[in-house]
Amino acid sequence: MCGIVGYVGSAEAAPILLEGLRRLEYRGYDSAGVATLEEGIVSVRKEVGRIDDLRKAIAINPIGGSTGISHTRWATHGKVTRENAHPHFDRSGKLALVHNGVIENYASLRAQLEEEGHQFHSQTDTEVLAHLVGRAFDRCSERTPGALVSALREALGQVAGTYGIAIVHADLPGVLIGARRGSPLVLGIGKGEHFLASDVSAIVGYTRDVVYLNDYEIAVLSDEGFTLSTVQGNGADYSVTKVDMTEEDVGKGDYPHYMLKEIHEQVRSVTDAMRGRLSHEEATAKLGGLNMSNAELRTIERIVLSGCGTAFHAAMVGEYLIESLAQIPTECEYASEFRYRNLPMTKDTLVFVLSQSGETADTLAALRESKRKGHRTLGICNNVASTIARESDGGVYMHAGPEIGVAATKSFTSQVTILTLIALLLGRIRNLSSSAGTRIITELEALPAQIEKVLQLEPEIAKIAKRYAHSKVMLFMGRQFNYPVAMEGALKLKEISYIAAMGYPSAELKHGVIALVNPETPSVVIAPHDAVFHKNLSNIEEVKARGGPVIAIGTEGKGKELSLVCDDVILIPDAPEILTPILTSIVLQIFAYHIAVELGCDVDKPRNLAKSVTVE
Ligand code: M6R
Repeated sequence: MCGIVGYVGSAEAAPILLEGLRRLEYRGYDSAGVATLEEGIVSVRKEVGRIDDLRKAIAINPIGGSTGISHTRWATHGKVTRENAHPHFDRSGKLALVHNGVIENYASLRAQLEEEGHQFHSQTDTEVLAHLVGRAFDRCSERTPGALVSALREALGQVAGTYGIAIVHADLPGVLIGARRGSPLVLGIGKGEHFLASDVSAIVGYTRDVVYLNDYEIAVLSDEGFTLSTVQGNGADYSVTKVDMTEEDVGKGDYPHYMLKEIHEQVRSVTDAMRGRLSHEEATAKLGGLNMSNAELRTIERIVLSGCGTAFHAAMVGEYLIESLAQIPTECEYASEFRYRNLPMTKDTLVFVLSQSGETADTLAALRESKRKGHRTLGICNNVASTIARESDGGVYMHAGPEIGVAATKSFTSQVTILTLIALLLGRIRNLSSSAGTRIITELEALPAQIEKVLQLEPEIAKIAKRYAHSKVMLFMGRQFNYPVAMEGALKLKEISYIAAMGYPSAELKHGVIALVNPETPSVVIAPHDAVFHKNLSNIEEVKARGGPVIAIGTEGKGKELSLVCDDVILIPDAPEILTPILTSIVLQIFAYHIAVELGCDVDKPRNLAKSVTVE
């Protein structure tokens, strides 16, 4: 949520900062700002709106200097206004600061500062932090980076909450300072230049050598080098990581939107989620990252899967997968509920947290709560350098490549693929025969080709999507493995097209939802040819009997019954029912995408949303 980029070196800072912000725009896009050090003063430009608005403003009114900080905002405290946009200043106007996170006790700190005569120009918590640091620095007799770091330590000692920050000060040309607690910050090492960013994708075009800051660390950067220390005043060890992400990975290529690019990447991402993890010889999955022996895995009596949004829906599919293949009682919990709920968990409960970004605040809190209670807690993450990846006791990386579109797509299918591998592994050390294991492996290996076929349906799905694009409400239903897909399909549609959509288990229709059925309200029914196909067919009849249009997702070669009753039918390749969610969810991603495009919505940057929700 929100993006930070900082630069110190010999090049013009503004173009580098703007380019970095453009790469981070998916993290927040209400307003944006840049501050640079120019001839002993801090120059600033801020705009409400997108990075492009800021770029245009800077083209008209350029900003020089080779040290600077910048920010793209997703509002938490205070409305979307130029005053609330970052950077914020201290009382002297010499210190500029950008911030991701939330200062929880900002109101009392602000009141105290106001009593001392400080005046504030915004409603943000960030401005309070800028004043605190500036006040402490102005009490120092020295104007050195060391003195600013001491002032920062003093200020950070007074705040409660989370922060990833970058600071410049007019009295310290060529110095950039960063600190983190709970909000990611990465330091980039260049030749005669250094970078700070909240996400490595902002700086990957300039350097591949990075240092991920840990919580409570402070970094001081200049063109020549950098030092790290802790908020408590101790030295800090670090290691330099080589990032394997390329500029291409974080670009759109020839696609009009990241979302479409990422939908089409799923042949590769699902393949990569399985790569090297399937053993024909042992008819099972090999997941060394779990850091658990088969003997330890056998002692697991119960599993809890936790995540938010799309990751939660993947977890719901996981519940069906683990229970059916491994017969282990499994439960899904929204991370936001898990963290505050006192869920009774026996000592043999294994917890998995799922998160594409690995930085979602609620999921991280669920991980910490689970670990605090002494449970082994494993992560299923895409971002290998994320806090969740680092703090979990082990896990499985998704290897899906960067997901930039705000609507999660490939991360869902990668998570479901990995949960299938986990279910297979747990099943094979319990009741699943080796022939069943071999069959599942063969079916998994056939999946990428089947995904390819689903992607080829895009023109057909787009045509159908256009016909329904002007609906006000849409209902999604499915059963068993595809009930979570109905929820996910509804989430995809509402977040990018703003059509009210809800997903529910098909049989729930009769218990209330049917009241919404009318000729203007289409129902999307996920009805592949599985064990519950005829049950779904009855639900379709119920909708049709009340004049509701039905778009069905069925199975190739077995779609006749659907064609007879439904208005539109989309057929996926014939796959075993445990793997259908991967195929049906892709159909719904394409469907939602084309509806949003038809409505002229900003697909990659839907209103009010941000890619990774790092605040509670
Ligand atoms: O990075 P995470 O997987 O933890 O993100 C969880 C949700 O915020 C995310 O899936 C969100 O619901 C997406 N916008 C859905 O498309």
